Amino acid sequence: MESPNFDHWETLAAYHGTGSDRYYDVDALVAGHDSFTDLEENALALATSNNGVEGLDVIHIQSHIAFDSISMARRGARVTAVDFSPTALRRANEIAALVGVSIKTVESDSRDLPHSLDGRFDLAYATIGVLGWIDDLNAWMHSASRVLRAGGHLVIVEIHPLTNVFGSRDPLIADFPYGGGVPFAWRGTGSYANPNADFTTSTEEYPHSLSEIVQSVIDAGFELTRLLEHNDMAYDPHGDILDHDADGRYRFRIGVGPDGSPSSAATLPIAFTLLATKRTTTR
Ligand SMILES: C[S@@+](CC[C@H](N)C(=O)[O-])C[C@H]1O[C@@H](n2cnc3c(N)ncnc32)[C@H](O)[C@@H]1O
Repeated sequence: MESPNFDHWETLAAYHGTGSDRYYDVDALVAGHDSFTDLEENALALATSNNGVEGLDVIHIQSHIAFDSISMARRGARVTAVDFSPTALRRANEIAALVGVSIKTVESDSRDLPHSLDGRFDLAYATIGVLGWIDDLNAWMHSASRVLRAGGHLVIVEIHPLTNVFGSRDPLIADFPYGGGVPFAWRGTGSYANPNADFTTSTEEYPHSLSEIVQSVIDAGFELTRLLEHNDMAYDPHGDILDHDADGRYRFRIGVGPDGSPSSAATLPIAFTLLATKRTTTR
């Protein structure tokens, strides 16, 4: 399957984790720091009933350079990292070797995972910056369902579609649709992990609302077990639209609150966690 975003991701995969970006700290990972924030930790705890991923077969969908795959492998999971970017997977294997853990990598489009993986996993894991690259959400969900065992869990931690609407805080620009899936073209420089990076790429992103995402999960035969919306995060995945509060957390506010100040404005959801279970019987 072709994607207009392939070249973009090849470029970013070669760049991330080389010491020039703010997210992918290979030295810290090698030193033993897992890459999860509290949101991923909480999602994994809920999906595993606090038992952790040790001994589980996990497919990490759109793994990029596989920091989370490596972190899960270090905790004893058997991890298959899937991405359509061969450069991302090459880097993933190099970094896993530096850390000293073993992961399997599979080059594949996530909308059509290889049938050789069908029914092989306890957990399908996908986080932050995944669904917006997918034009056909139903194909993605069906693919994720297919590779899970009956009773297996889907774990999604994603940027909230509401936040995606806003391209800038000052001036306040709302330039990205809230759902609908119509391609949104972009051409520009840099990466989310380093906006100043010196390369230009083009992308096509696909806006999906929260209800569209939930419906595609249900239509793929999952039972939805949790949907959490988060108003604070450990970092700003957009890089520049959230407030960095004194407690170290990032929050999204627009306008002013009850006392007329921007800091008292109500916070809006910036991420969500979705957990679902593959049904053991079809209805
Ligand atoms: C923002 S990154 C994911 C970041 C990841 N959560 C992390 O923690 O590093 C998005 C990834 O999706 C991959 N990707 C985008 N579209 C894809 C597709 N259709 N099939 C497979 N991988 C895709 C890109 O190559 C990229 O590695």
